[in-house]
Amino acid sequence: MERIDVVSPIGIHDIALATGHYALNLGELAERRGVDPGKYTVGLGQTTQTVPATDEDIVTMAAAAAKQIVAEHDAGNIRTVLLATETGIDQSKAAAVYVQDLLGLPSSTRAVELKQACYGGTSALQFAAGLVHRDPDHQVLVLTSDIAKYDVDSAGEATQGAAAVAMLVSADPAVAVLEPGSGLYTANVQDFWRPNYRSTPMVDGKLSVSLYLEAAEQAWKDYEARGGRAIEDFAAFCYHQPFTRMAYKAHARLLEVHGIGADQERLDADLAHTTVYNRLIGNSYTASLYVGLMSLLDHAEDLSGRSVGLLSYGSGCVAEFFGLSMVPGYRQRLRTAANRAAIARREPISYERYRAIRDFELPVDGSSKVLEADSAGPFRLRAVTGHSRMYEARHLIQA
Ligand code: HMG
Repeated sequence: MERIDVVSPIGIHDIALATGHYALNLGELAERRGVDPGKYTVGLGQTTQTVPATDEDIVTMAAAAAKQIVAEHDAGNIRTVLLATETGIDQSKAAAVYVQDLLGLPSSTRAVELKQACYGGTSALQFAAGLVHRDPDHQVLVLTSDIAKYDVDSAGEATQGAAAVAMLVSADPAVAVLEPGSGLYTANVQDFWRPNYRSTPMVDGKLSVSLYLEAAEQAWKDYEARGGRAIEDFAAFCYHQPFTRMAYKAHARLLEVHGIGADQERLDADLAHTTVYNRLIGNSYTASLYVGLMSLLDHAEDLSGRSVGLLSYGSGCVAEFFGLSMVPGYRQRLRTAANRAAIARREPISYERYRAIRDFELPVDGSSKVLEADSAGPFRLRAVTGHSRMYEARHLIQA
């Protein structure tokens, strides 16, 4: 495997995960929906899905992921917070501003929210690299945080989930260097979108799958045409995972484009490590690709000096193929135990409790509601009053 020579390395210096409080078993959902559980566990490749508690949202999850990073690095170097989400809580104010405050970051910080369906997180990562390139002392906190929620009893319901991934982007990164060059693809299509007046998306599921595959192929072809690496140069691949089987479909398409046989053994060898966390969490939209990356890094052999190919897809649609080069020694910087614990400590939830959470609504008429403590993470939504969300930090005693 060729080693990459990057002139001015910029990339991921630290990376951390958070997810919601509850987990719904898809076996139970299958029973309620009268379908064979194999459709969810094998056909979609999902076994549980995160269900956030009533006092959790994208801000509390993003802050919980970012807190781990801020605790270990000099927060004074973080000059920008970019939060990518498609579960926005406000049409105007960036969720990044709430997170900046909850984390106690200096007021001399830029805080912005970005959106393009599940692709938004990758745009934030690329824009962060541009800021660091301009000023190598500048660090950018990239946050991806989403709650994937579909209509009850719809085809998408089994793919729901929630998570946040925080990444610290800097010069001389300790985890992964963002390789120069990307393959891009944009097309104005209606496969999945959420008009402002809806809390769940409009989805043409079958169309979305075929558009994702087409976008993956076109983004790869653009990457190749611009002098990107050969497919054999990548030691591993990560795909956006609305459900884990989707990564298999997309990788099979890329292998077929190269005339490489995509049998189950080859697909498992290339992808199984990237799907461990996503299979348990479900879709986390902007975070999903990076949850897959963390799953890969926490389970694969040492990839030091080797390249990982990433395919980001956001409905609507935008796709990007790019490479990360793993920094020698990166494994010492991983939070494998904390990542596994965040997933393992979710409280199993009954179908009835899941439905009660789905039916729970925050006031939309300006009245006040103080929320009962439902979650156990470091941050929670305490109240809504006068159309404003009020958050609080908990002072947790580490076990
Ligand atoms: P569906 O149409 O109900 O499922 O929902 P299906 O009938 O296509 O079955 C799914 C698979 O299970 C099939 O395998 C079946 O054969 C298999 P495939 O043909 O795909 O290989 N199956 C079984 N396997 C084993 N044992 C059984 C069994 N029964 C069936 N007993 C659909 C599937 C994806 C349409 C639905 O989940 C959906 O609408 N999901 C939401 C949209 C979505 O996830 N799209 C993915 C691409 S778009 C994207 O990734 C962007 C997104 O993240 C949003 C964003 O960008 O913001 C969604």
